[in-house]
Amino acid sequence: MNLTDIEKINIGFGNVADEYDSMQGINIPVKIMREKFYKTVDSYIKPPAYILELNCGTGIDAFYFANAGYNVVATDISDKMLMNARSKGTLKNLSFEKLNLAELKKATGKYDLVISNLGGVNCLDDLSKLSRDVSELLNPKGYFIVSVMPQFCLWEFALIFKGEFKRALRRLKRDGVIANVGGEQIFVRYYSPKKFYSYFKNNFHLNKTTGLRIFAPPQPASHWYQKHPSITKFLDIIDNKIESFYFSSLIGDYYIAVLQKV
Ligand SMILES: C[S@@+](CC[C@H](N)C(=O)[O-])C[C@H]1O[C@@H](n2cnc3c(N)ncnc32)[C@H](O)[C@@H]1O
Repeated sequence: MNLTDIEKINIGFGNVADEYDSMQGINIPVKIMREKFYKTVDSYIKPPAYILELNCGTGIDAFYFANAGYNVVATDISDKMLMNARSKGTLKNLSFEKLNLAELKKATGKYDLVISNLGGVNCLDDLSKLSRDVSELLNPKGYFIVSVMPQFCLWEFALIFKGEFKRALRRLKRDGVIANVGGEQIFVRYYSPKKFYSYFKNNFHLNKTTGLRIFAPPQPASHWYQKHPSITKFLDIIDNKIESFYFSSLIGDYYIAVLQKV
């Protein structure tokens, strides 16, 4: 049986859904990236604004924003991710829906903000359509705040010195790479901030980009925080100082882009 790409995403992410929160909970780089994402959102839009969250996973950000007083509709394609999100409880200002990023026309309502955290959009092949669809879901001057994996990551590139050439160079592949997620082969594409914005420029103004995990260790190197506490503390301070420089978004593990509807 041949699975479609979307079925693979549903099954693959579903297979990692049960361990997702425990993995994320102990991962310091992920915690820091989330804090920066929350701070970015808060600096542009205040509660009780209406948020549509794309690729919400197990709802970690959805619950954060709903608890902070925003009205949140959180969506994902993975049935299991959504099941785990719903099992965390109910809030009157939070709902979960199944929605494919490639079929946002099926979404209803108008929002002040659309968010997508931790690279969900890297699983998508048509960003021009995403740009049009997100723009239609937003109120005038609404924001799309999204975290994206760029085409070059300094930390990953450094794996070349350990002889891990394939991993070190994978992001540079123009047409993306196949990643193993929960035993399924899922296509992942990487976008430099310039390339990413080229798909959005007809509908959005790019307000800001923030580089994440530039010199400080990224998600897979979380153990550095136990092994080298003073070095990681120092690298986090450096990252905080340079995160707004454009080059930081070119070489970090992720970047946050703040786009405003024109
Ligand atoms: C790395 S997880 C990020 C989850 C969440 N945003 C977070 O911060 O924890 C990526 C999520 O994107 C979802 N996803 C991938 N492709 C998608 C698509 N085409 N439509 C909707 N969700 C998708 C996956 O199911 C998965 O839950």
